[in-house]
Amino acid sequence: MTDAAHHSPIVRLAPAKLNLTLAVVGRRDDGFHDLHSVFVPLALHDVLTVAPAGTAGSDTLHVTGKDAGPVEANLVLRAISAARAAIGEGPGRPATPPLAARLEKRIPVAAGLGGGSSDAAAAIDAALEAWGAADALDPERRLAVAASVGSDAPFFLAGRPALIEGRGERVSPLTGIHGHPGILLVTPAVAVRTPDVFAVFDGSHAGASGDGSVRMTSAHLAQELGNGLSATDLVARAGVLASANDLLASAALIAPGLVQVRRALTRLLARPIGLSGSGPTLWTLYPSLGEAQEAAVTVADGVADGTVPSIGDGPPSIIPTTIRTGQEGAPT
Ligand code: C5P
Repeated sequence: MTDAAHHSPIVRLAPAKLNLTLAVVGRRDDGFHDLHSVFVPLALHDVLTVAPAGTAGSDTLHVTGKDAGPVEANLVLRAISAARAAIGEGPGRPATPPLAARLEKRIPVAAGLGGGSSDAAAAIDAALEAWGAADALDPERRLAVAASVGSDAPFFLAGRPALIEGRGERVSPLTGIHGHPGILLVTPAVAVRTPDVFAVFDGSHAGASGDGSVRMTSAHLAQELGNGLSATDLVARAGVLASANDLLASAALIAPGLVQVRRALTRLLARPIGLSGSGPTLWTLYPSLGEAQEAAVTVADGVADGTVPSIGDGPPSIIPTTIRTGQEGAPT
């Protein structure tokens, strides 16, 4: 361990993301898809703690909160390994001793909220700091390490709204949301695997690209967010944004109940309801957190009386939160 290495735990907050738009532009030779998507980070976050764990043995991870599946497959461990490999061994290289990581999982898992990729991005950052190696990887190499762990991970290195292109590795920060837009997230308890959604999409779209209208909406929003948009302006565009996801129909084929939940929420809240990523999380935009919290109560009542169907393994998770615009301090 170098003198610069940290002996006390490093804590990182790993935010969830939401796709305000998601256009599939085409299928790539590597099997992934080129996207055009406006991503925003949310105040909702996981908490990752990392500390050096001696000089021998392997990295460990302990997860509390929501069930994130087998620890061996967790992106936190893969991200730490990838960061270690990128630093390499040898004279002049920082030592990269084993790390003990703890993850408090608050973001719904496999939900279209980017939780796993966000944990991975946070793990790369925390591991480098724990090893006193923050300077060992320049931003470009950090981004490459993040991209190797998860398509959404490069976005989380930016920490602010961004236009995402390519497979997810082209990140253009968009600084233009003013105010604190509220978001209500409703995540039905159904498993929707991203590769399955893309496979259905490929099967039903010649050339594996959307019809172009989502792409136009996405380009328009990116331009507007480059210039500046208030929370109220953003809410005024919710109707267009809620249908600006090329994966919506494919996700609905994999989780048929999603359509009923979306329709029930549209009626109950009298607001446009969008899908984040490949789902199954549905979102509604509000001018403030307070209004999103009120809507959360309405939806909880609707779930209790059956107005909003519980599909899959039980009732949906209902989370009011805000968009992180990049202009605030640390999330709370
Ligand atoms: O990179 P990640 O593991 O998050 O991607 C999960 C799956 O989603 C990929 O295996 C691929 O099937 C699909 N995907 C894609 N194009 C992207 C991102 C993900 O086809 N840009």
